[in-house]
Amino acid sequence: MDKPAVYAPNPKLAKNAHISSMAQYKEMYAKSIDKPEEFWLPVYKQFHWETPYTPGKFLSYNFDTEKGPVEIKWLDGATTNVCYNLLDRTVRCGNGDRIAYYWEGNDPEDYSRITYKKLLQEVCRFANVLKDHGVQKGDRVAIYMPMVLEVVIAMLACSRIGAVHAITFAGFSSDSLAERILDSKSKLLVTADCVMRGEKLICLKDICDTAMDRAAEQGHVVECCIVVEHLARLNATLNAQDNGHANGTNGTNGNSNGTNGTNGSAAYKKVDMKEDRDFWWTEEMEDAPSSCYPVWVSAEDPLFMLYTSGSTGKPKGVLHTTGGYLMYAATTFKYVFDYKPNDVYWCTADVGWITGHTYVVYGPLANGATSVIFEGTPFYPGNDRYWSVIDKYKVSQFYTAPTAIRSLMKFGDEPVLKHSLASLKVLGSVGEPINPEAWLWYYKMIGKEECSIVDTFWQTETGGHVLTPLPGCTPMKPGAASFPFFGVQPVLLDEAGKVVEGPGEGYLVFNRPWPGMMRTLFGNHERFQQVYFSRFPGYYCTGDGARRDEDGYLWVTGRVDDMLNVSGHLMSTAEVESVLVEHASVSEAAVVSRPHPVKGECLYCFVTPNEGAVFDKKLTDELKKQVRERIGPFAMPEVIQNAPGLPKTRSGKIMRRVLRKVALNDRDVGDISTLADEGVVDQLFANRPPEA
Ligand code: WT7
Repeated sequence: MDKPAVYAPNPKLAKNAHISSMAQYKEMYAKSIDKPEEFWLPVYKQFHWETPYTPGKFLSYNFDTEKGPVEIKWLDGATTNVCYNLLDRTVRCGNGDRIAYYWEGNDPEDYSRITYKKLLQEVCRFANVLKDHGVQKGDRVAIYMPMVLEVVIAMLACSRIGAVHAITFAGFSSDSLAERILDSKSKLLVTADCVMRGEKLICLKDICDTAMDRAAEQGHVVECCIVVEHLARLNATLNAQDNGHANGTNGTNGNSNGTNGTNGSAAYKKVDMKEDRDFWWTEEMEDAPSSCYPVWVSAEDPLFMLYTSGSTGKPKGVLHTTGGYLMYAATTFKYVFDYKPNDVYWCTADVGWITGHTYVVYGPLANGATSVIFEGTPFYPGNDRYWSVIDKYKVSQFYTAPTAIRSLMKFGDEPVLKHSLASLKVLGSVGEPINPEAWLWYYKMIGKEECSIVDTFWQTETGGHVLTPLPGCTPMKPGAASFPFFGVQPVLLDEAGKVVEGPGEGYLVFNRPWPGMMRTLFGNHERFQQVYFSRFPGYYCTGDGARRDEDGYLWVTGRVDDMLNVSGHLMSTAEVESVLVEHASVSEAAVVSRPHPVKGECLYCFVTPNEGAVFDKKLTDELKKQVRERIGPFAMPEVIQNAPGLPKTRSGKIMRRVLRKVALNDRDVGDISTLADEGVVDQLFANRPPEA
């Protein structure tokens, strides 16, 4: 293989960067590993601790299941409040008038901003609303929201009173939401009436109604649902603009019968409000006091939980705690984006994913940063929306996913060249490996060869970046996540668990905790240990493979388990298979991943129909619909193929590598002598549908 090109960081960036040379990085890194307490102490001291940690209890952990239960404790004995540290602290430093967020709506005419001071008041008011509805420390609050400022307010209000938010991405189906509400036993749900994505109207409250009904059927009743009048408000504003006067509502509050916006508005749909359960956000907020004393919680009390797919069984409720997560979110944000006062930072991720938690909310606010929150899509009203937003707010750090980059590359350079993009300094990538072609386009076309690209590798479980280049510091190799962040010690292991030293490839594992890593899976510590710590005792196992090159750079090569990553959404083949086999006409299903030029990977499904069932377009349409409805639109199968037989070994195990070859139409299937029936393979190739 050719030696990959190396791109030196822009010297102008390096000059002022927080970390401006590899020598400085190495020195800091060594300290973070050798003397963690000394390394993290200055970070710790930036924050307010109502009670300091107990001397000698800075960090204690066990990663080795053979020695006892896995345990990770940072800052034992300390108490604090994350919301207080993000907002009150910034306001008290005299920065209350600083903009926390520029909010940019789906419609370019719809935008607003909020200062730290105002955000604090709104958070306090909503914290009081939550308290009025009986939410207490430790209770879970489900959130199913579009990208509006209220989602940040709701998250921080939870933190203010020690409640635990459990967000479900608002692209998930009602079934997925119900499953998460049930597992987390959420007491209250926060949502919005509707949202526009591009030109599509999505009624979130309807989805919540179905999910709450389903959860109730299975024994868990959500006591209260608070609904943001998002579209009602937008309709009122737009109607007022169209007609020269406010129409129906006055734009600041919706009326309680849920009919607001119906007069004169095409988009808005009536929302059903169930008496004594459903409440409008604005009405609840109206009389709520704008101050609320923070609840001091322990450093190891939960801050939030967030579900991620598992390769088997139900989604996993990854639990993050308070003190360590705060320090880690703050530190990674500062160094990885090289954030400085007056920079404007924009992360395009939805708050429904971990990227939105750590790098739309907690990391930026912990640094008193100014960010953009964007509700819309990269394609509306035109394919240059991202670039126009960058110019509108003079964004200096831009953080997005390879799938978005690839989908925008398709439109060529013209939409980009309409905009200056001169404010950009750092470009981030996250969610999946970035292919060199996309990396180079990002570097040249968006960054004009002046910006550093940070290809950040991490997971819902890691809480923050774990492998990443640093801007102005790390010489870049397109597609390499490069080096570990402070406090992170990556190890490559071979099949037998032997450490791969120097150049080579292996399972990517970590041998010690960093402050921001998860502590457990909600209500299932057993599964936590099983999934992450049992394969290689003493190591946290990421489930990814990685390669170390001659220069010590790490390249993440992708999942080593039955997981796949469609447009940055991680899912398991098993969860899609289980939805497919629920169909009355399907007896068996096997799903594999196939590379996709834009999505990174896509789902290729093999389906064995039941005796007597017909495999036709009607069936494949039904199956696609079922997957969409049960999991979410992003899980939509690319191809569904008829498979009268599946390639099974004599012991009945499906040989997935053969299916991956069929999906690729690659006849080089390798050794199939252990198959019970080798004839199945030819039949599968013959059965490939024309659209595959
Ligand atoms: C999986 C985690 C981290 C937030 C978004 C996804 C893949 C993530 C990279 C990267 C190569 C990456 C891994 C990982 N992944 N970032 N820069 N290079 N692969 O969070 O849903 O928990 O998914 O995404 O496979 O295990 P997640």
